[in-house]
Amino acid sequence: MSKRIALGVFEMMNPSNGMPTWTDPRGRGDDWDRLEYWVDLARALDAAGFDFLFFADTYGYATLGGRMPEEVAAHGIQFPALDPMLAIAALARETDALGFVVTSPTTVERPYATARRFASLDRFTGGRIGWNVVTGSSQATTDELFGITEQLAHDQRYDAADDFLDTCLRYWEHSWDDEAEVRDRIRGVYADPSKLHRVEVDAAYQRSAGIFAVPPTPQRTPVLFQAGTSDRGRAYAARNAEAVFIQGQSIASAAAHVADIREQAVRNGRAPDDVKVITGMTITVAPTRAEAHALRGEYEALLARADAAVMFAGITGLDLTGLDPDTRVVDLKTDLGQTLVQRYARQNPEMRVGEILDSFRTKAIRGFQITGSPEEVADEIEAIVDGSGIDGIMLEPTFGGPAAYRAFIELVVPVLAARGRVSPPPGATLREHLSGIPRLAPTHRAHALHARPLVESP
Ligand SMILES: Cc1cc2nc3c(=O)[nH]c(=O)nc-3n(C[C@H](O)[C@H](O)[C@H](O)COP(=O)(O)O)c2cc1C
Repeated sequence: MSKRIALGVFEMMNPSNGMPTWTDPRGRGDDWDRLEYWVDLARALDAAGFDFLFFADTYGYATLGGRMPEEVAAHGIQFPALDPMLAIAALARETDALGFVVTSPTTVERPYATARRFASLDRFTGGRIGWNVVTGSSQATTDELFGITEQLAHDQRYDAADDFLDTCLRYWEHSWDDEAEVRDRIRGVYADPSKLHRVEVDAAYQRSAGIFAVPPTPQRTPVLFQAGTSDRGRAYAARNAEAVFIQGQSIASAAAHVADIREQAVRNGRAPDDVKVITGMTITVAPTRAEAHALRGEYEALLARADAAVMFAGITGLDLTGLDPDTRVVDLKTDLGQTLVQRYARQNPEMRVGEILDSFRTKAIRGFQITGSPEEVADEIEAIVDGSGIDGIMLEPTFGGPAAYRAFIELVVPVLAARGRVSPPPGATLREHLSGIPRLAPTHRAHALHARPLVESP
């Protein structure tokens, strides 16, 4: 039987998500800060049987040489932005099955506060929340905003993220036994103290001790997503993540990535299937092939090279416009996000920075680019999924507004459904949508962590 394809959407709570398209009539320049806009989008995705809506997020913004380039504010390049986590409870209330994945960085947040926020959302959403664990992008501005003066090197940030997640996992999985929340009005017992445990963490990067304030929630731990594809990022994902977001570029490279993550997961004592892989996809679909290509042409014409350079710099810390255009990608070095640089270096180590900018102008931080008639798009999605072992796709916006999702829902979903590739989410929780189980898999390392009983046995 052919594999069910998980469906998601990749959003950011800013005027355009990705490249600046907010002035286009199909954009959402005037809507992005209205809760009603997001409610309508969430409802539409829920009704169409999508598994999740993902909000990428960052505190930072793009800088060049420590300053915000004019393009960022003038052209609305991932700026300004609101905190998407604060909208999730409202979106969940208006939807039945749609899951919500939100990014939260391990670099500037604190584990206990993060654990409590996600546990609260797991209760409010009835188990439909996921956490995209990132070590952060736009780190330079984020550090400045938060007054952080001591910067960790790239791989150390992931070591710190391990300690961060350990701390959260102990609170979520080990501070309360399943039956600890008694709520017995007759006996006057809210929670059974003998079933509570004290978490104690004294690790290289984190220190925290105490009892979790939130009783067990439907999923306990939110579904753990990870998105950085640097070597250290993949190792982190193989150890911790239940789902990985990638921006697939070709079937071959996506297949290699999927195989690598699964192999590493197995070395961590997990099953290959314990880590789902979901790729970003920009789909431009119309009733006919010609209409779809015309639409894609219109979209590409909106994108400027200078804006692309600014966005690239925000992610990597590298100002490509300040370099000799003949500089080779393998000679680029950064201690900020390495995913993008490594992606181009893997494609072609001899690629020059001028070529990178040309390609980045139209692709930006996107995954597969698919343009065509409904059948063509469905064929290509199936070929990618079957050829790479990927488990799901998430749609990236084109003009910014909901038109592209609507076109996919009306034109492509029925074709994929007829072929048995998409169906309404199975189960009530996000983890059930993706893995068929309500709680972390028994092979997850969270189960080997522990907490101390609050009431020591005599
Ligand atoms: C699909 C996808 C989504 C991402 N979403 C975010 C995000 O929401 N916030 C963020 O700061 N970084 C995001 N990133 C960037 C990575 O998580 C970031 O590159 C990583 O934390 C830095 O480590 P790296 O060197 O492994 O890339 C995303 C990356 C990908 C591929």
